[in-house]
Amino acid sequence: MAQRALTGIKPTGEPHLGNWLGAIRPALELARKYEAYYFIADYHALTTVHTGEALRKYVRDITAAYLAFGLDPEASVFYRQSDVPEIFELSWILSCFTPKGFMNRAHAYKDFVARNQKAEKDDDADINMGLFGYPVLMSADILMFNADVVPVGADQIQHIEFARDIAEKFNRNYGESVFHLPEPRVDDSVKTIIGLDGRKMSKSYDNTIPLFLDEKPLQKRINQIVTNSQTPEEPKNPDDCHVFKLHQLLLNDAEEQAVRKVYLAGGMGWGQAKKMFFETLNDQLKAPRAEYNRLLADPGHLDAVLAQGRDKARAVAVPFLERIRSLIGVR
Ligand code: TRP
Repeated sequence: MAQRALTGIKPTGEPHLGNWLGAIRPALELARKYEAYYFIADYHALTTVHTGEALRKYVRDITAAYLAFGLDPEASVFYRQSDVPEIFELSWILSCFTPKGFMNRAHAYKDFVARNQKAEKDDDADINMGLFGYPVLMSADILMFNADVVPVGADQIQHIEFARDIAEKFNRNYGESVFHLPEPRVDDSVKTIIGLDGRKMSKSYDNTIPLFLDEKPLQKRINQIVTNSQTPEEPKNPDDCHVFKLHQLLLNDAEEQAVRKVYLAGGMGWGQAKKMFFETLNDQLKAPRAEYNRLLADPGHLDAVLAQGRDKARAVAVPFLERIRSLIGVR
């Protein structure tokens, strides 16, 4: 039987280039080799998004984005986390097998504490229990569907390790191999996508390139990429340039060599470098952009896709949770 890959997408903002190259594109590749499960982690987003209208919008945007880039809801299981309530029951069950120390040691939590300390606030200021217990819910996401492989960014590896450890504790306690032990899969080629200023592309740095801008605003945004003060005549080092680092991610080897030559030859100003990048990007985004706009104008279709995914996901989750309930003695 094909191995199963599962990945969650947190709807916390407008989809940007970093989401596509770092998450959407590699996730969609998986469907070639694995039985693929994709879900919108809306209850994970609730740890930070506290406006109903915003959360609803982000869920719609990200659903449309995945479909626009070619996710096939027939060939995969594509659902919204909150549509599968069994996950939350499992989350509680797993929390009773999770040492509290795991959560204390979670990098994401420790980062928040460190930031609070730096700001001379209380250690736990602005940290809600959802944020603290986040890795348990994430374990439930993964273990509910017995995923073998979980493609994630490097910052999420520790969470997958928690899921493995929690699964092992549960299996050992009941003397049965109820849960598969998931493996993290980190794609090195897409480690970090940089933003306009060369830092990681992130909404919190306000350095993103939103994916579905119209051509004019897209070009404007690209013109904001920070470059050095070399004159047009000077030969340029492509590997020391934010524009090239982004452009490169859209090119095959031959195309990349051709663009490198233009940089190295001299006589290319930054305006031209940005224009070349814009043209490549715009070509690749044209069709998805049209499809995205079409999908957003048809919310009934988005709902139908998610309803179909919910049914497929629950066909797995409901009987599996029944087995777990029986094992732990609540039935
Ligand atoms: N925590 C992941 C992120 O921030 C999103 C996520 C939630 C996830 N549940 C998951 C990823 C389960 C993989 C598997 O990107």
